[in-house]
Amino acid sequence: MKPKVYVNRPIPEEALKKLAQTCEYRIWEGELAVPRDVLLKEVPGIDALLSLLTDKIDAPIMDAAPKLRVISNMAVGFDNIDVPEATKRKIVVCNTPGVLTETTADFAFALLLAAARRVAEGERNVKEGKWKTWGPMILLGHDVHHATLGIIGLGRIGAEVAKRAKGFDMKILYYDSVRRPELEKTLGVEFRDLKTLLGESDFVTVHTPLLPETYHLIGEEQFKIMKKTAIVVNTARGPIVDPKALYGALRNHQIAYAALDVTEPEPIPLSDPLLTLNNILIVPHIASASVATRTKMAMMAVDNLLAALKGERPPHIVNLEVLAG
Ligand code: DGY
Repeated sequence: MKPKVYVNRPIPEEALKKLAQTCEYRIWEGELAVPRDVLLKEVPGIDALLSLLTDKIDAPIMDAAPKLRVISNMAVGFDNIDVPEATKRKIVVCNTPGVLTETTADFAFALLLAAARRVAEGERNVKEGKWKTWGPMILLGHDVHHATLGIIGLGRIGAEVAKRAKGFDMKILYYDSVRRPELEKTLGVEFRDLKTLLGESDFVTVHTPLLPETYHLIGEEQFKIMKKTAIVVNTARGPIVDPKALYGALRNHQIAYAALDVTEPEPIPLSDPLLTLNNILIVPHIASASVATRTKMAMMAVDNLLAALKGERPPHIVNLEVLAG
């Protein structure tokens, strides 16, 4: 009998074909995330789950799936999964690091440039018929070249952002819970504690995972330290930046601009006050959304899942301790 897999959303065809070679799968064909009641009905009897960052995979889901052996998340972030609960049940949890690093770093830089040079406002003005003339004082932004970039979290994506920043002759600072002496040498980045980094940076870009210790890492106190001209970019996870504090900081011009690929909550409701501001650019969590990268992520998620089902060590396992015992 082939192992049974549930796939939480349509994913690139190539990955589904590979899955079909050895597994029997069912799929939620909806455009939106699989509703929780549907998922609860689908998981009894499955051996593996291919989940997305939009799906909360917690104890009740795992309880409903007593045969579940692997949860393979098609994302590098796995804050949507209760990993300790999975580990308790000896369920392997996997993610998709590496393949989206450069695509996400490109996008973080795209947001940084767009925010600095007011691309979104310019486009809005053109479409609203407000482009009347070239003007010496119209839509003045901030230079990126030779400015100071503060990277919060110098992991894979943060390091790729630093590489791109070098091309713009930026001074690059970073803050992380651990020092990265190798990267300090190879990328010419300088460590600062968070407070100092926030005070010195023209651009602050967030690249940490969402953990209890990074929840609302950037809040009221932190915005107070930043320059009035500072631009904040978040392509990591929405809840790392406190949205209420961000609203206050942007509204009171404590900082100049924010560009967000991620929000708290997602999707951001139309009634959210952040959407009333002109000095913010928000896009719908698309930093990894290139054709090539999404295909690689899906293939990696399937490869992880198949390896775990075969009893092998998946290439990208989050809770290795499950295999140790
Ligand atoms: C991830 O993989 O965690 C990203 O947020 C997807 O874009």
